[in-house]
Amino acid sequence: MKGVILAGGTGSRLRPITHTGPKQLVPIANKPVLEYAIDDLVEAGIGEIGIVLGNKGRAEIQEYFGDGSDWGVDITYIVQGAPLGLAHAVGCTRDFVGDDSFVVYLGDDLMREGITELVADFDPAEYAAGIGLQEVDDPSRYGIVDVDDGGDVIQLVEKPDDPPNNLALIGIYVFTPAIFEQIETLDKSWRGEYEITDAIQGLLDDGHRIQSHVVHGWWKDTGKPEDVLHANRLVLDDIKTRINGTVEDEASVTGRLELGEGSVIEEGAVVRGPVSIGERTVIESDTYVGPYTSIGDECEINGAQIESSVVVGESEISADRTIVDSLIGRKATITTNQDKKPDGERLVVGQNSSLEL
Ligand code: G1P
Repeated sequence: MKGVILAGGTGSRLRPITHTGPKQLVPIANKPVLEYAIDDLVEAGIGEIGIVLGNKGRAEIQEYFGDGSDWGVDITYIVQGAPLGLAHAVGCTRDFVGDDSFVVYLGDDLMREGITELVADFDPAEYAAGIGLQEVDDPSRYGIVDVDDGGDVIQLVEKPDDPPNNLALIGIYVFTPAIFEQIETLDKSWRGEYEITDAIQGLLDDGHRIQSHVVHGWWKDTGKPEDVLHANRLVLDDIKTRINGTVEDEASVTGRLELGEGSVIEEGAVVRGPVSIGERTVIESDTYVGPYTSIGDECEINGAQIESSVVVGESEISADRTIVDSLIGRKATITTNQDKKPDGERLVVGQNSSLEL
């Protein structure tokens, strides 16, 4: 079985964080979103991975993942160009896939339990496709699926106005090459996209069987800033303490902490985990870093109280301010101007930052 990751989205909902960097490299607990998908595919035993890229952020993604050898896999990059929908993206992988079955993973999704079970369960002799499902609270935002008692899919509908139930497609699919013929016959949907949901419905209409697999651990799409913060909390909930940097004697650290090489938590600083801190970052003496915060590489945090936030990296925050539930882009500078009256602060915020003080 091969793996396909769809990473062609533009990340418009994450602006301004994604004005220059691709959304697929936005870090969740100091690991790019897309790397979670790669890790899950590797764990499921998949050795050949095709990543479908759009026009945006292509070079950065290729530079980060290279030929895949750091992950022990072969990565092929496939260019989708214009984002014409998930079915179009899957259609672009036809040459890469050849005659194999393949698993498709939406590149901005995170799944706590990975995909090993779903992949192992799939039986290409019986089924033309397998789909991952989970119950959701807001079914009209998703592809919704009806299944029979044996788990066979009866019907699929994309973002129904009147959902028949709340069992949603979560963006993990297993296909045989039969899907490609269906993709060729598709018309665009009301939202102007070639929908993979319609292609799977086409398989059903042609008499193929579709297997369903309900996924139990949490699943998170990281399309919006609040989703990134939520995913960060979910991942930090599971981290273990791993200190590769320096915690000075008089620093106060409680709870679980990941501290990367070359990073320092200075005397007098307070860190309450779960917290993830990247490499070569300094948490200075009068700083508080509270639970569910991730701070990337090469940051300097001085005098701030920061909690439940993601600081992407290469930022300087020198402000006696409380920063909560914030997503702070790469190379942001946040300072206060103590001399300015009345009580004002001067913010120099990098162009890629989204910040509420
Ligand atoms: C896409 C699929 C939808 C699925 C969802 C999962 O929706 O079309 O069927 O439920 O991903 O995240 P989109 O994110 O394009 O709105």
